[in-house]
Amino acid sequence: MCITMELEINRPMKRNKKPAPRPLTPNQKYSMYEAAVQDAQQHVDFFQKAGRELLGREPRILREDFCGTSLICAEWVKRDPQNTAFGLDLDPEPLAHGKKVHHSKLTKDQQNRIELFEQNVISKTKKADITVGCNFSFNIFEERATLVNYFKKVRESLVDGGLHILEAAGGPGMIEEMKEQKTLKKANGEKWFTYI
Ligand SMILES: C[S@@+](CC[C@H](N)C(=O)[O-])C[C@H]1O[C@@H](n2cnc3c(N)ncnc32)[C@H](O)[C@@H]1O
Repeated sequence: MCITMELEINRPMKRNKKPAPRPLTPNQKYSMYEAAVQDAQQHVDFFQKAGRELLGREPRILREDFCGTSLICAEWVKRDPQNTAFGLDLDPEPLAHGKKVHHSKLTKDQQNRIELFEQNVISKTKKADITVGCNFSFNIFEERATLVNYFKKVRESLVDGGLHILEAAGGPGMIEEMKEQKTLKKANGEKWFTYI
């Protein structure tokens, strides 16, 4: 996962020279990433609503592609005791972080309904009602043939009538130069980090 956020705390001061930012620990990196760009509750609200409308029943099995810290899998299994989720990601670091930080907060029953696989999303897996790819992650597939191959594998991994939901970005906001800056605070009100 490529994240460039600078911590503004505890930086050693050097005269007249901006010090290089300290490398972030996995905990700092993923918690800041999630706070800046993820809202798992909102995503899962949408997946459930779209699933009900388009499947004509309650969606139960979720495959989270490019799952990173599997925040969405964790939210999905919390919603209903019949829900199960599995996540795929190539990188063991966010997978391990998700298990440590998110799965550990779940009940034993909820934990038993999540599986994580260190695996390419271009693979046929067990069947899901819904497969999702959030935060534009599928843009990593720059060749048409690779994207088509991904879609084929997803198709083979969906139940009949299943849904593949991709979070895409487009419109003027994507081509106009702009700067968005937001300062996030900790629970105690102290400044945490600035997201630019
Ligand atoms: C931007 S992060 C997405 C994190 C989180 N799921 C979200 O929605 O914000 C992209 C993730 O995709 C993973 N990734 C990239 N290519 C992949 C592939 N071919 N198969 C599985 N995971 C992949 C990276 O390791 C990284 O964790």
